[in-house]
Amino acid sequence: MTAQIHFILNDRTVCTSQSPGSTVLDYLRSLERLTGTKEGCREGGCGACTVLLGELQGGNLVYKSVLSCLLPLGEISGKHLVTIEGLNQQKLSPVQQAIADFGATQCGFCTPGIVMSLTGYLLANETEVSDEGVKNALSGNLCRCTGYASLKRVGSFLVKLFGNRTKLTIADLIAQKIIPEYFQDVRSRLSQLAPTTLENGKATPDFVIAGGTDIYVEQDDVIPDSQVTLLNQTSVAEMKGISSYDNQIHIGALTTFAEFATHPEIIKLIPDIQTYVQRIASWQIRNRATLGGNIVAASPLADGSIMLLALESQLVLDYGVQNRILPMTDFFQGYKETAKKSGEILTEIVIPLPSALTKFNFEKISKRQYLDCAVVNSAIKIRCEGDVIREIAVSMGGVSAIPLLLKETSAYFLGKRITSKTIQGVLPFLQQEISTISDVHGSEEYKRLLARQVLIAHFTKLFPEFLQVRDVYATN
Ligand SMILES: Cc1cc2nc3c(=O)[nH]c(=O)nc-3n(C[C@H](O)[C@H](O)[C@H](O)COP(=O)(O)OP(=O)(O)OC[C@H]3O[C@@H](n4cnc5c(N)ncnc54)[C@H](O)[C@@H]3O)c2cc1C
Ligand code: FES
Ligand code: FES
Repeated sequence: MTAQIHFILNDRTVCTSQSPGSTVLDYLRSLERLTGTKEGCREGGCGACTVLLGELQGGNLVYKSVLSCLLPLGEISGKHLVTIEGLNQQKLSPVQQAIADFGATQCGFCTPGIVMSLTGYLLANETEVSDEGVKNALSGNLCRCTGYASLKRVGSFLVKLFGNRTKLTIADLIAQKIIPEYFQDVRSRLSQLAPTTLENGKATPDFVIAGGTDIYVEQDDVIPDSQVTLLNQTSVAEMKGISSYDNQIHIGALTTFAEFATHPEIIKLIPDIQTYVQRIASWQIRNRATLGGNIVAASPLADGSIMLLALESQLVLDYGVQNRILPMTDFFQGYKETAKKSGEILTEIVIPLPSALTKFNFEKISKRQYLDCAVVNSAIKIRCEGDVIREIAVSMGGVSAIPLLLKETSAYFLGKRITSKTIQGVLPFLQQEISTISDVHGSEEYKRLLARQVLIAHFTKLFPEFLQVRDVYATN
């Protein structure tokens, strides 16, 4: 594939014909010699390679903090790519100065990534700058040297500086010297950029890439030399955005976790969605990782798949002119095996709108609270009349080769009251329906124990008036 990719790199307009599948990290360090962007893990786990990506959305210039080790070069077409060098001014910015003043850097390896994440937070922030927001923005940045207390102090300093402001504009941030003056013209410069041209060498791509947060971890050695389709650059309209009609919520497969967690339709459906999604990966990854990629990658632990299974979602798969609709339960066929045919693209996820009295809960047990995959995760959708269960769907991950909808366990509950006796009665069904193995995440016995604990937690959390933790253990 040959390409002419046009974008703005810091304050320069650039055109490159490098492979669209090569990573932005390699492009920056090897070709541009912009080595302030560090190469740490190359797996999305350390944040040392964090850059900012600005793009025009409905006339507004919107910036996101992303990981350059998982970002295909073709994705920056028509966008503004900002590296640590692009924040340089005559003096240190207030973010950089605070990191120095509060002793939040020692060897300095992680520091560029941390400066990018904090600056990205101020650029992206829609609500008040807060300690919690700063913590979330740094959720993907690891530091081996300083400890996080000094970084927290940097955060509190920024909260003091900006805490009473809601949306900070680019002009505000230039005035405060957080970003250099050239940012002022980026919006008009982006609108004048020449379009990128991609000439396909092959009809069928070697790799289909959405957010790239799974596929680059697995295949980053071969993707740069391969023919890629970048779904974000080529996709049809229904693959983006979330809308509600015909008693269904339609979610484009390219919806990122960050978009999913902040969309009003999803918040209405799952009021605690932001808390649940904050447990998924890191801020930088959630800005790129798509729900479609989460499903198609078919990890038995995928948090998005587990939530969407309990919501009894359907998947729309597109093969050129033809569409087919599949219940999500039929999609997963074996360990990382799906019913997706070669060449098929997942375009939409469709959730039937539950009745107003339906409740939802998600539980995730992981070794670390943040930036860690689940050992066992589970979601429940449930509607009761009083304490009698009328509708229920429970899903569970990490207990089988596939993300599992627990059909028999769910069926057992129908028509029963929420009591400790019901919970005790269902446990044999649960243990029979799951098929755990011992692996790096934990032993078989441990996962069986967790399966039982998360099932109980759904009920004690959603229905404390009918069931308390002590009731369950009193009957043991
Ligand atoms: C450090 C780190 C932490 C993570 N933590 C979590 C976590 O806590 N929870 C969790 O669930 N996941 C986690 N992940 C996994 C990952 O971020 C998600 O699975 C993500 O949702 C994948 O989406 P993507 O858009 O990046 O997929 P990609 O990497 O672009 O694609 C994944 C696969 O799906 C295919 N594909 C993607 N979209 C489509 C489509 N629309 N149609 C057809 N095929 C498609 C691709 O060809 C590829 O085979 C983590 C990843 C990293 C690197
Ligand atoms: S190098 Fe570690 S997240 Fe990119
Ligand atoms: S200062 Fe050394 S890794 Fe953070």
